[in-house]
Amino acid sequence: MQPPDLSNAYALNGAEDCQRLYADWAQSYDTDFAAGMDYRLPAETAAAFLRAGPLAGPVLDVGAGTGLLAAALRAMGHEGAIDALDLSDAMLAQAGSKGLYRRLTKADVTQPLPMSGYTGIVSSGTFTHGHVGPEALPNLIAAALPGAVFALSINAAVWDDLGFDPAFRALGTITDLDRSEVAIYGQAAQARDPAHATDTALIVTFRKS
Ligand SMILES: C[S@@+](CC[C@H](N)C(=O)[O-])C[C@H]1O[C@@H](n2cnc3c(N)ncnc32)[C@H](O)[C@@H]1O
Repeated sequence: MQPPDLSNAYALNGAEDCQRLYADWAQSYDTDFAAGMDYRLPAETAAAFLRAGPLAGPVLDVGAGTGLLAAALRAMGHEGAIDALDLSDAMLAQAGSKGLYRRLTKADVTQPLPMSGYTGIVSSGTFTHGHVGPEALPNLIAAALPGAVFALSINAAVWDDLGFDPAFRALGTITDLDRSEVAIYGQAAQARDPAHATDTALIVTFRKS
């Protein structure tokens, strides 16, 4: 059986669908998808987070998947505690096997979260087609301490369609909002999946006031 691909992932419809797809994808996600597509978004998001000047303290990785964003943060010298939140047991199991996270929590980010007290909140690849939209933003704000730094990747194609602009304006409680557009994949993606090879994401950084 072929492992799932981006087209399957972008067509997800709801939490059960998501858990089913990632149960099939978790084992091969790093070696097949991330390596095969030269998946750059976790490293781009980690770099944007560190540039935004995070405070010392725990960081929450939202839709942590197999832990690629935490691995990128560690590779860039970030030493503080990182907690993983994800809807998929299978993806969390992969993340846990890498020993990068202080805590792994299965939770749906579109619902009020069972955790709080973070000085940093990061996310790569989770605000996208078929996954999570701006309805999750108030839950993330509630989990953060005042002054916390956020770095969230948002697939550029869903920014307008899902209404991220008005959602950020409605939050009210944020400062220093900035965004930059980055390539999600590298050169290898051209041969592997030409339909998605040039997809871009907006990396949004801001602080909770
Ligand atoms: C494309 S993967 C990205 C994983 C990782 N951040 C990366 O960049 O490789 C998206 C992840 O979001 C998780 N996810 C999707 N919907 C979610 C939700 N409502 N709450 C929490 N996690 C969710 C999926 O289980 C999956 O692990």
